[in-house]
Amino acid sequence: MTETDREEALLDVRGVRKSFPSGGRAVTVLDGIDLRIEAGRLTMLKGRSGSGKTTLLNLLGGLDRPSEGEVRFRGRPFHRWTDKQLTRVRRREIGFIFQSFALLPLLTAWENVELSLRMAGIPRAEWSGRVARCLELVGLTKRALHRPSELSGGEQQRVAIAKAIAHRPHLLLADEPTAELDTLMAARVMDVFRTIIEAEGIAVCMTTHDSELWEAADVVYEMVDGRIAAG
Ligand SMILES: Nc1ncnc2c1ncn2[C@@H]1O[C@H](COP(=O)(O)OP(=O)(O)OP(=O)(O)O)[C@@H](O)[C@H]1O
Ligand SMILES: [Mg+2]
Repeated sequence: MTETDREEALLDVRGVRKSFPSGGRAVTVLDGIDLRIEAGRLTMLKGRSGSGKTTLLNLLGGLDRPSEGEVRFRGRPFHRWTDKQLTRVRRREIGFIFQSFALLPLLTAWENVELSLRMAGIPRAEWSGRVARCLELVGLTKRALHRPSELSGGEQQRVAIAKAIAHRPHLLLADEPTAELDTLMAARVMDVFRTIIEAEGIAVCMTTHDSELWEAADVVYEMVDGRIAAG
């Protein structure tokens, strides 16, 4: 690998371990993780329940810090940063999606997306153009004025994607984003990921149990007991 290749990684994870205190002892949940996440790619983390996928995703997004090892996001050392520094980068440069959609129930689709622009400190003059664009990217222009309860699960997840990418993050992290959706809806969400990767040059990293989705990935890492399996 050349030095140039190294510079291209959006996220560079080396020798990461994570343990949690449990009943006076430390339980090791991640046990030596090395991986790279590249811009413009869809990366999947697969593995059994309890293998450490969510724990790893949280470290990738700066929601937590490793016990040992390095997590570099765009060259910056997350493993050494304070909570305040991490929060700032997260708000501006990373988007998150969860299994349960996490939309605000009293706000319309439009207002939910707009809220993330407000949170990221984007100038108000840019909001309406950007909200319209994001809802268009996820195919929900016609549902802009609906509240979450007036949308299907798949539509809610697509609003959540629009919300997560509105502030133009470099990285979109999604923990089991299709777990509550049927096959057709899940496929639609995967199409949306592909669309935004191409339209916005963003990197997507998601966890999933669903073997039918693995083919849609550019890179798949399998986690087994807190390690990345070979191959
Ligand atoms: N804060 C914590 N304190 C103690 N143990 C934890 C903590 N967070 C996670 N664990 C343990 O770490 C292991 C991995 O959990 P994690 O949630 O990362 O797995 P996962 O691969 O995402 O599983 P699933 O597919 O069920 O979502 C589990 O055994 C879990 O009990
Ligand atoms: Mg999990």
